[in-house]
Amino acid sequence: MKYNIALLKGDGIGPEIVDSAVRVLEVIGKKFGHEFNFTAYDIGGIAIDKHGKPLPEETVSGCLASDSVLLGAVGGPKWDTLPGNIRPEKALLGIREAMGLFTNLRPAKLYSALKDDCPLRSDIVENGFDIMIVRELTGGIYFGERGMREGKYGEEAYDTECYSRMEIERIARVAFETAKKRRCKLISIDKANVLESSRLWRKVVHEIAEQYPEVECTDMLVDNAAMQLVRNPAQFDVIVTSNMFGDILSDEASQITGSIGMLPSASLGEGKRGLYEPIHGSAPDIAGKGLANPIATILSAGMMLLYSFGLTAEHDCIVNAVDKVLEAGYRTADIAHGENSLSTTEITDKIIENI
Ligand code: IPM
Ligand code: MG
Repeated sequence: MKYNIALLKGDGIGPEIVDSAVRVLEVIGKKFGHEFNFTAYDIGGIAIDKHGKPLPEETVSGCLASDSVLLGAVGGPKWDTLPGNIRPEKALLGIREAMGLFTNLRPAKLYSALKDDCPLRSDIVENGFDIMIVRELTGGIYFGERGMREGKYGEEAYDTECYSRMEIERIARVAFETAKKRRCKLISIDKANVLESSRLWRKVVHEIAEQYPEVECTDMLVDNAAMQLVRNPAQFDVIVTSNMFGDILSDEASQITGSIGMLPSASLGEGKRGLYEPIHGSAPDIAGKGLANPIATILSAGMMLLYSFGLTAEHDCIVNAVDKVLEAGYRTADIAHGENSLSTTEITDKIIENI
């Protein structure tokens, strides 16, 4: 089969890690008889420098014309002082919205080879954990009305959290379907003791739950969830939550795996086309030094094969190659603890050898 993949390398370590994932995809293509065609478009800070805006039209149309999109990371100190509407991060929200990607899947699992990297006490993670966070991605406070106004105490700024029934229903369905394919346990996270939007969220999730009797569904308040994630992460199978809570909890979940450089993500909409990216940022401090861990991006490319193209064996092949390389003790600097580490290219070579 032939697949057209749009590459949004972005800023900082983005180009290096995307190049690693492209090399892996090319080897997978050879092994399994697929043709992957890659076209690169600018996004983020580099797009601001070259086109005067973080998300140029040709980037959006290129992504919409592709079969799927692989993204590196955006942002850096150079663009940090720009106004909100032209910051690199704005491009991420923009491309998610333009592609209709309302679902964000963020798996957080503890690799047995990396158990010692987990900051939690060993008795807490004895049996590991494997969590899938289903984050709503195109609604809530990140997309709500915002602005400045004169208030009771003078100048004030505001952002609004707003969720429609439709937005909650569609993300809830994705979450139940995801849970059905896993351990059939869904925890919906909200702040229904305070927020009206959370009360609608909870009500709609309960309605959808009736259509999935095989899935055990419970609610958890977000403050409690933040605590439970470090108290007993193994209690979670699938989590479904709003855009902002998902943003925060997925960073927390990534940290307890001990390796933010390892975690991939998939952003999906109604169709097969998705956007795949590591959950870490552009790490400008180590850009261009060969220190970046490409594994999260390589695994993101793997998720693309599975979710957008339905290529299960090809996906599994990448995941197994990464597992083998880690089991064999190979590490990039972020997970090497000062011991010998491999460069971005060297660890990619090792993964390719195992494909
Ligand atoms: C993420 C990031 C983005 C988000 C930012 C950079 C806009 O934190 O993907 O988690 O909040 O979605
Ligand atoms: Mg985030």
